[in-house]
Amino acid sequence: MAFIDTMKAKAKADKKTIVLPESMDKRTYEAAEKILKEGIANLIIIGTPEEIAENGKGYDITGATIVDPFNDPNKQKYIDKFVELRGAKGVTAESAKEMMEKDYMYYACLMCKCGDADGAVSGACHSTGNTIRPALQLLKTKPGISSVSGFFVVEVPNCEFGENGTFVFADCAVNPDLDEAKLAEVAGLSAESFKSFVGAEPKVAMLSFSSKGSAKHDNVTKVANATKLAQERFPEYCIDGELQLDAALVPEVGASKAPGSPVAGKANTLVFPSLEAGNIGYKLVQRLAKANAYGPVLQGLAMPVNDLSRGCFADDIVGVVALTAVQAQMK
Ligand code: ACO
Repeated sequence: MAFIDTMKAKAKADKKTIVLPESMDKRTYEAAEKILKEGIANLIIIGTPEEIAENGKGYDITGATIVDPFNDPNKQKYIDKFVELRGAKGVTAESAKEMMEKDYMYYACLMCKCGDADGAVSGACHSTGNTIRPALQLLKTKPGISSVSGFFVVEVPNCEFGENGTFVFADCAVNPDLDEAKLAEVAGLSAESFKSFVGAEPKVAMLSFSSKGSAKHDNVTKVANATKLAQERFPEYCIDGELQLDAALVPEVGASKAPGSPVAGKANTLVFPSLEAGNIGYKLVQRLAKANAYGPVLQGLAMPVNDLSRGCFADDIVGVVALTAVQAQMK
């Protein structure tokens, strides 16, 4: 079964409630109709009656709960929670109300925080930064985790590498400043994500332009140090580096460039040394190898919130809602 069909089947088995704040975008309704029809999740759509009537015209979203952010009996509860969480950062009841009415993603995150939703999906018409900032501010990281990162599950057709062509790539979406400690954390979180989503044992390669000291540079040292930190912090996972991509994937190259490595030639979880490399890397594989790339899925957040590409189709929203619902089940 294709990865995304497995996610949909899992989501249906224990339905979670996912909030969609982008009532201003028609793709939300097209996706909502499919999600409700297939029984993938219970849905909350945040929008005014005018927004719903105008943008949802022609779609059957019977079964979705509509929350009007200007006329919601629970609104005061969310305002109070916002002030409780962000009062020290200068948020007042008045500014909280204004932010929630102007940017429904704040409303969605507060619904999650108050236990009225299990997760949120947005980003069809908002940038990644604007989608995830409210989640970082209000939902925060899981206990013991310092930094949220973003991974893709990449399914490469006709590929003998990884787990029958399936990989996790990270961080492809969030951290423009990855230091050694953050990179080590990305390795541990990605191993966990691979295990949970792909269901096989992760073999994590810490990628670089050097394999086991073949080149000397501060960037190489950073990845080598991050590897040591990751191995110490996550001894339950198989993590090795620094490795070049070919040494990580191809058994013969791995044996020659990194003999004795438990990961070289067998990697299925690729940790990129920078956001540039990760973001460009997954897009290269997606475009040139015609791979399916599901994500970015956020890892390390206390509750599941996920981003969409602004070029997404309604079916992509359906897939990300299924993934988010599965993350909510894991929580
Ligand atoms: N993990 C956990 N918390 C974080 C993280 C993180 N990675 N980054 C920021 N935060 C927290 C901060 O500590 C801060 O908390 P506080 O307000 O309680 O003190 C809060 O989030 C806001 O942080 P800022 O630094 O003010 O927010 P910023 O404007 O820098 O936004 C963001 C953070 C959105 C993650 C930013 O780094 C960003 O835009 N990253 C790149 C996103 C991107 O464009 N990706 C590529 C496109 S995605 C694609 O192609 C698939």
